Amino acid sequence: MGSYRVAAICLCCFVCSCGAREEEKEEVLQTVNNSLGYVAQSLTKKEYLAGDVLSVADIVVWGAIYPLVIDGTSLPDELSSLKGWFKKVTELDQCQKAAESLLKGQGPSVFKAFLQKLPAPVLVSEKSLSNEQEGEDTAARLLSEEDIAAATEAWKKGLHDVPKPKPQQQPILPIDGEKNMLITSALPYVNNVPHLGNIIGSVLSADVFARYCRLRDWNTLLVCGTDEYGTATETKAMEEGLTPQQICDKYNAVHTAIYKWFNISFDYFGRTTTPHQTKIAQDIFHRLLERGFLLEDTVEQLRCETCQRFLADRFVEGICPFCNYDEARGDQCDKCGKLINAVELKTSVQSVCKQSPIVKSSRHLFLDLPKLEERLEKWLDQSLATGDWTTNARYITRSWLRDGLKPRCITRDLKWGTPVPLDGFRDKVFYVWFDAPIGYISITANYTDQWEKWWKNPQQVQLYNFMAKDNVPFHSVIFPSCLLGVEDNYTVVNHLIATEYLNYEDGKFSKSRGVGVFGDMAQDTGIPADIWRFYLLYVRPEGQDSAFSWSDLMLKNNSELLNNLGNFVNRYTTR
Ligand code: MF3
Ligand code: ZN
Repeated sequence: MGSYRVAAICLCCFVCSCGAREEEKEEVLQTVNNSLGYVAQSLTKKEYLAGDVLSVADIVVWGAIYPLVIDGTSLPDELSSLKGWFKKVTELDQCQKAAESLLKGQGPSVFKAFLQKLPAPVLVSEKSLSNEQEGEDTAARLLSEEDIAAATEAWKKGLHDVPKPKPQQQPILPIDGEKNMLITSALPYVNNVPHLGNIIGSVLSADVFARYCRLRDWNTLLVCGTDEYGTATETKAMEEGLTPQQICDKYNAVHTAIYKWFNISFDYFGRTTTPHQTKIAQDIFHRLLERGFLLEDTVEQLRCETCQRFLADRFVEGICPFCNYDEARGDQCDKCGKLINAVELKTSVQSVCKQSPIVKSSRHLFLDLPKLEERLEKWLDQSLATGDWTTNARYITRSWLRDGLKPRCITRDLKWGTPVPLDGFRDKVFYVWFDAPIGYISITANYTDQWEKWWKNPQQVQLYNFMAKDNVPFHSVIFPSCLLGVEDNYTVVNHLIATEYLNYEDGKFSKSRGVGVFGDMAQDTGIPADIWRFYLLYVRPEGQDSAFSWSDLMLKNNSELLNNLGNFVNRYTTR
């Protein structure tokens, strides 16, 4: 009973004479009355809540509203059916004893201490819901007698009567005439241990959705893997005195173990540094080149003379040219969300050695996004109209298109990456953001040689991408533009699910400063994976940023998981 929480909280003032004004009390009763109305309505047709005999439902509801109603006199006359029922249950011997043992002659103020320990109320005012949701909400409450009877039947039969999902064939491939769900979760950077924000942002969200799809008997493939190329890996290798390959091997194993512990049901967890990746990325590149979607230009690039290397945009910090935020990264501003070319930062320092880089020029290849814009927009129109896109994903994508697309550089002067297969550029590699999303495809190719049945089959496959919001433009604009430009019947994202950010207590998770809870630490606490999964999903930053907090983890575990869900299941299973 969602509204019971509202009632319980407000009761603190309602029963304890703590100074709540009369109007406030009225308001509380008003809120609760709606819920009591539903109970009263269902009691007009039968003696007790579940039929004509007393059941556990009566005891639960009676216990829940007892602190509010006490002797039943506060109930308005319209709720006469509820009043009568309440009196009947209160007069039961056991109920009287229970009430006496709790009140101990002191009256309702004994509830105060208890009520104050309950979690803060979630006041879902119906006015705040959109029309659509309100409609659904009302529909949900207007269950017919048949609906209720069917639910009761299903409940009585229990879990063993629920048909088991049919076993999946191996390898999992699209099946004619079925719903074929290709689900990806953003490929985590290999160079560190994922924290809880990373986990809820993509892997856990994708996992829960994939589990749901499998229960619905939809043909489902969930793939992910580590994102291994780029300067981040090179830098980490320098720090740890290992080669980039050794770093990838080490941290790929760390990620694999963490997701296994969290029970993430990947059908395949791979990595981007494989021969398939090279082959597919180079093929996509060649096709874009042949079709005239690549441009050549000279780029001013930042180079650190101390470290003797060109700097990846992400390793440069400075002032955002758009909003003046002074901690913008060279690739993207965390404040205004705009993508930046590192040389455009107003003043900059390298984030590793804190030296000011110099600008040096170099020839590079660009994806001609303006030339691809029209077909992207046409495709987006359809995908946004028919697919499940979160509000933030829609918003970010639209604002990108509104600003107009500019050519994007897809090559870098680095070593650790997929080599650019073109004379004049052979000492360069692809930019990670060009290369990494191709990882979804190559990882599937490592899973099955029939990968094209998933990835070159938009007619039969629905592609779902899960990620945090900073990944949106790469998945909704840049990668789809590539795939459309390639003209090879690729499967392009149909549904894009992006989360907001999860904060840690009052601040941000920070890998570099070691602030937050990381996958391995969660495991070391001794708290089971399912409790972490429950809590992360509970605070999932769906419509706005949310925060992980240790005390809230404890509270939600005790109140929601144990008290509410646990007791509910326990009452049922021990009947
Ligand atoms: N590694 C990136 C991140 O953690 C996500 C890459 S998603 C991919 O933000 F599709 F590009 F691989
Ligand atoms: Zn900015």
